[in-house]
Amino acid sequence: MNSNRKTIIAGNWKMNKTPKEAEALLGEVLPKAAGASCEVVVCVPYVDLPIACGKTAGSKVSVGAQNLHFKASGAYTGEISAAMLQEIGVSYVVIGHSERREYFAETDATVSLKIGAALAAGLTPILCVGESLEQREQNIMPEHIRTQIKIDLSGVSAADMGRVVVAYEPIWAIGTGKTATSEQAQEVCKLIRDTLAELFGAETAETVSILYGGSMNAKNAAELLAQPDIDGGLIGGASLKADDFGQIIAAAQ
Ligand code: PGA
Repeated sequence: MNSNRKTIIAGNWKMNKTPKEAEALLGEVLPKAAGASCEVVVCVPYVDLPIACGKTAGSKVSVGAQNLHFKASGAYTGEISAAMLQEIGVSYVVIGHSERREYFAETDATVSLKIGAALAAGLTPILCVGESLEQREQNIMPEHIRTQIKIDLSGVSAADMGRVVVAYEPIWAIGTGKTATSEQAQEVCKLIRDTLAELFGAETAETVSILYGGSMNAKNAAELLAQPDIDGGLIGGASLKADDFGQIIAAAQ
């Protein structure tokens, strides 16, 4: 963490919690976030967004969606636009999560369009990048990460880059209980910041919050967050347990 940048602890609930269950979990999470000096975000399923926006109003917790469509409106059955999210009080949106890339044919080209749509609507995109185990073992992780960053952010100006959050999520660490070591996570978050410096200038790169995600939990959070280029976490499984999520928030103080 670095005091010049915003520290962000974001929960990614994925496809978990009905609206009733969401209300109950938020009731437990809110008191744990009350004294937080970092930014706390909950990225919940679409149908939970209204309840999350209502429950978190006036609190320290911001609400995020997990996806959006890049078009403003039209014949896109089953999709949700940035303006729809913005109007109900959503402020963040996860874009390009590896599960969307893997199971829903998300490409760097659509991710790039989605980043543009989010920024145009005043939402803060949390862009996810990360390599597979195979890519790591074949030593092509750096090229892969740099390519994702370059294409996914190709439509973003240096001025707008200040409103983008990047999350490094090694695919092999997501939901597997296999966390990247703090050295591995720091190495890639630094690589991301160096790539941002090339693209947008060093000054802008220094302001971007870069999160780590992949089996972050109450035990390993403090060590990961102590790394100089890790400015927070994107937390899946552990964000569904209020106590664990609360401990991660506390580790970010
Ligand atoms: P995990 O998920 O914490 O359950 O590994 C992280 C993510 O996919 O954002």
